Amino acid sequence: MADTQPENFSVPSEVFDEMAKKYENGLGGAQNDIVRALLSHSKENHPIDSNSVIHDNACGPAVATGEILSQGISPPPKIFATDYAQGMIDITRSYKERRGWDSVTVQQMDGQALSFEDEKFTHSISSLGVFMFPDGKKGLSEMYRTLKPGGWIGVTSWKDVRWPTAAIAAYEKFFPNAQEPLALPMPKNWMDPENCERNLREAGFHDVKAEVVPCTNRQLSKEIGASAFVEFITYVSPTVKSWDEDTRERFLAYYSTLVEDMFLPANNGNGVELTLYSIVTSGRK
Ligand SMILES: C[S@@+](CC[C@H](N)C(=O)[O-])C[C@H]1O[C@@H](n2cnc3c(N)ncnc32)[C@H](O)[C@@H]1O
Repeated sequence: MADTQPENFSVPSEVFDEMAKKYENGLGGAQNDIVRALLSHSKENHPIDSNSVIHDNACGPAVATGEILSQGISPPPKIFATDYAQGMIDITRSYKERRGWDSVTVQQMDGQALSFEDEKFTHSISSLGVFMFPDGKKGLSEMYRTLKPGGWIGVTSWKDVRWPTAAIAAYEKFFPNAQEPLALPMPKNWMDPENCERNLREAGFHDVKAEVVPCTNRQLSKEIGASAFVEFITYVSPTVKSWDEDTRERFLAYYSTLVEDMFLPANNGNGVELTLYSIVTSGRK
């Protein structure tokens, strides 16, 4: 599968605008599991404290920001939460207001052209962010530029987010003689720990390490769980977008059943869950 996918994949900000409200529930808390694993790396190597100045880059609905603030550091560190999608910024701003996050600054910004000065941050985080940028190298070089010497970088990506396996199986069933692969946003240079480590080293970071971290997508039912992934592929796959409505509907219905079958009853007896696999990579400037 990896061989059929591009090095980088461009998802326009409008897609994340549309998805913003559903994104949080769609991953069923897996994104928080990932950020907690990332923050445990920081704790071991360069702990966050009241004097830290942190960038939550491609923050989405303030996932890393929320996890850092929930640690109860007093007074809280300064956090700059940025994203290029207005929908994500709106959600992050509403959290800032409703939860009284006075130490958080929220700004709409492209991670490939940060408007921050050099050497501003002690910690630079991009969870499930920079690996999706059209130019991931530029994203990393901007993180390097804006990090203080000795500062800590933490990024995450997907090793296996599971739904692509179902999508490819459905594609092979519907189009057994297809000449073109199903186009999916799976940047292959971020799908294994070795590549992730190399990406950070090539950007100038040292003491780089990467590990695969399982995380759990928890949903009330398998149908609800599958619906988010059905919606996602509709937004992000140019192949799926190119089909007529009837083909798309039939494909999506079948793909949905394959995704549903991946969910298992939750260990705690409430709803269903699906294990996903992320890669957590960190280093120092
Ligand atoms: C999969 S979400 C991750 C959100 C969040 N960081 C998390 O941990 O769940 C990807 C985010 O990257 C943002 N994004 C994608 N490309 C971007 C870019 N070039 N600049 C800034 N944000 C970008 C999207 O808007 C979206 O919020």
